[in-house]
Amino acid sequence: MSLARDVKAGFAGRPRSLPPKYFYDALGSRLFEAIGQLPWYRITKAEKRLLRRAAPAVAGALTGPVRVVELGSGSGEKIALVIEALRARRKTTVVHVVDLSAAALADSLQRLAKIPGAKARGHHATYEKGLLEATHPPRGRGECLVLFLGSNIGNFDPHDAERFLASVRRRLRPGDALLLGVDLVKPERTLLEAYDDPLGLTAVFNRNVLLRLNRELGADFDLAAWEHRAVWNADLRRVEMHLVSLVRQRVAIPRAGVVADFAAGETIFTESSYKYELPDVESLALAAGFRRERQWIDGDARFALTLCRAIDI
Ligand code: AVI
Repeated sequence: MSLARDVKAGFAGRPRSLPPKYFYDALGSRLFEAIGQLPWYRITKAEKRLLRRAAPAVAGALTGPVRVVELGSGSGEKIALVIEALRARRKTTVVHVVDLSAAALADSLQRLAKIPGAKARGHHATYEKGLLEATHPPRGRGECLVLFLGSNIGNFDPHDAERFLASVRRRLRPGDALLLGVDLVKPERTLLEAYDDPLGLTAVFNRNVLLRLNRELGADFDLAAWEHRAVWNADLRRVEMHLVSLVRQRVAIPRAGVVADFAAGETIFTESSYKYELPDVESLALAAGFRRERQWIDGDARFALTLCRAIDI
C-alpha cells in the first residue's frame, strides 16, 4: 500500500478520488468509533445487538479448535463477543485481528488479552495481506471463521465485493465459515442522517483525510476551504461521500508529485457505502463460493448478519 501512489492515481481521474482506507489513521479510527455511538449511525449498535444474539449459535456451529480472523477489527469489541461465546463452549481459539490503524489494533489486542485462553495476534495490514498472514501456515484440524463485519463490504463496488469475497474463499477450506455484516437499503432521509450527521462528526471524519495528506505527503490543503457532502445515489444503491471545494484553489501534494487545480464546487470522491437488499446478500455470497447457513436481521436498523459456509469450488 502506498498513499502517495494511490493519491496520484486517484487525482488523475475525474472526479478526483481517494480510497476510503486512508480514513483510518489514529484520529480517523477514533472518529469512526465515535460515529458508531451516534444515534443516526445505526450499523455498529445494531450489529452488536445481533452479535450478542448470534454468538452462541455461531460458536455452536464450529468444531474446535477454531482460528478466528477479523478483517477490519477496529476496537475488537465485536470479535470479543464471538471469542467469549467460543470460550463458553470450551473451544480452543487462535485469534487474528487485521486493521490498518495501529492504534485500533493496540486497543483490540488489549481487549482480547483479558479473555483467558485466547491467543491473539495483530496484523497491521490491508485486508488482503492480513488474511494471507493469518491463514499461514495452513492449520491442522478445526475450522476457520472469518469475520467481515460493520458493512465493510459496502465500501467495495459490487464487482470488487464479489472478487474480494472470492479471494477470502480461496484462503479457506470447504466447511470453513464467514460471518458477514451487511447494511440494507433504507429510506434516503435515514441514510443521509447517518452519513451527514447533525453533530458534524462524519464531516470531520471525511475532512480528516486531507489533514492526513498534509501531514504525510506535505500537502497544503486549507481545511476551511473544504466541505463534507453525502449523497444517496438511488440508481447504484450507495451513499457517496465527497469533499467539496468551496473556492477556486490550487493544492500541491509534493510527496505524491501532484499539483491540482479545483474550481469552486468541484469535488473529491472519498467513499461509497453500498446498501444491499436481502436476496443480494445471498447471491453475493454464493457467487464468491459461500452458502448462507443462518441469518439474523435487525428490522429497525435494517441490518443483516449472515453466517456463510465455504462450499467446494
Ligand atoms: C467502515 N464503513 C463500513 C463505514 C460505512 O458506513 O461505510 C465508514 C463510514 N463512513 C461514513 N460513516 C462511516
